[in-house]
Amino acid sequence: SLPSRVTIWEVGPRDGLQNEANVVPVEVKLEFLDRLALAGLTTLEATSFVHPKWVPQLADAEELLSRLSPRDGVRYPVLVPNARGLSRALAAGVSHIAVFASATETFAQRNLNSGLDAQFAMFEPVIGQAREAGLDVRGYVSMCFGDPWEGAVPAEQVLAVGKRLLDAGCSQLSLGDTIGVATAASVEHVIDTFTAAGVAVGDLAVHFHDTYGQALANTLAALRKGVTTVDSSAGGLGGCPYAESATGNLATEDLVWLLDGLGIEHGVDLDALVETSVWMSKQLGRPSPSRVVRALAG
Ligand code: HMG
Ligand code: MG
Repeated sequence: SLPSRVTIWEVGPRDGLQNEANVVPVEVKLEFLDRLALAGLTTLEATSFVHPKWVPQLADAEELLSRLSPRDGVRYPVLVPNARGLSRALAAGVSHIAVFASATETFAQRNLNSGLDAQFAMFEPVIGQAREAGLDVRGYVSMCFGDPWEGAVPAEQVLAVGKRLLDAGCSQLSLGDTIGVATAASVEHVIDTFTAAGVAVGDLAVHFHDTYGQALANTLAALRKGVTTVDSSAGGLGGCPYAESATGNLATEDLVWLLDGLGIEHGVDLDALVETSVWMSKQLGRPSPSRVVRALAG
């Protein structure tokens, strides 16, 4: 059976803009965030406190947050990899962070300069200190369905990484298909692996990239399993600079169209969102890859 309401976790300002060839001016980022909030999105992943040389696109995290006027009822989580990132995020006054683990050895090295086991030495103290400071902590797991260097990833390996994040104090896991290779069957299998191990489906979110055009089908498979938090990016912006062949995320507009058709509540004004993505595509100088944006923008 399907949920009656879904929380859309908007990652465009972070996952979208981290992959842009050109650095987007902070004024444009601020307007993007505000337009997304006005369109009804209540969770806006705003930026990352990662090493500015690793992701120069988000090196303005401090300035962005200091100039942001938060909207009532909207949360603005940020990515934090390590102790240095946490102290920067705390100084910026955030109340919600996300750590991002890898389900594979190779991606842990490439994305975090760490390793499959070693990454926890970085995350566990961050999660603990963040929780002590009263912050909510989400845990991402990347490469849950396949890895460009290692191929298929065993669901048990994904579960082991996810369990360690939950045990360390994460309130939610986001299962990432970083390179977009999942299909409905592998999505069901990974979700079943977590629930069979006693993880509540309400603690799972899904994070699909649309590289192979499967993101919507995968989302429907996850909804049928009872998942109620879905990550997406306005206009389908995005990708990960450290993952070969990662294209944009599931477009928020495409997700909203699906949810509307299923009668699932989400709280987003589709017209305002499409207008935002059309505006953003002008800022970036290229059209949105979202099918729904293209259809509705005429
Ligand atoms: P490192 O070079 O191993 O860091 O990078 P280090 O701990 O060895 O420190 C080296 C220097 O960097 C030190 O400075 C630190 O202070 C500084 P020094 O003492 O030499 O002057 N430093 C920092 N400065 C500012 N902010 C920080 C920070 N950390 C260290 N946070 C590190 C390790 C994890 C920092 C690096 O690998 C990194 O920043 N990685 C982030 C990569 C990234 O952002 N990837 C994209 C996000 S993940 C994603 O997109 C997937 C997702 O969407 C889900 C999915 O699709 O699957 C979430
Ligand atoms: Mg991603």
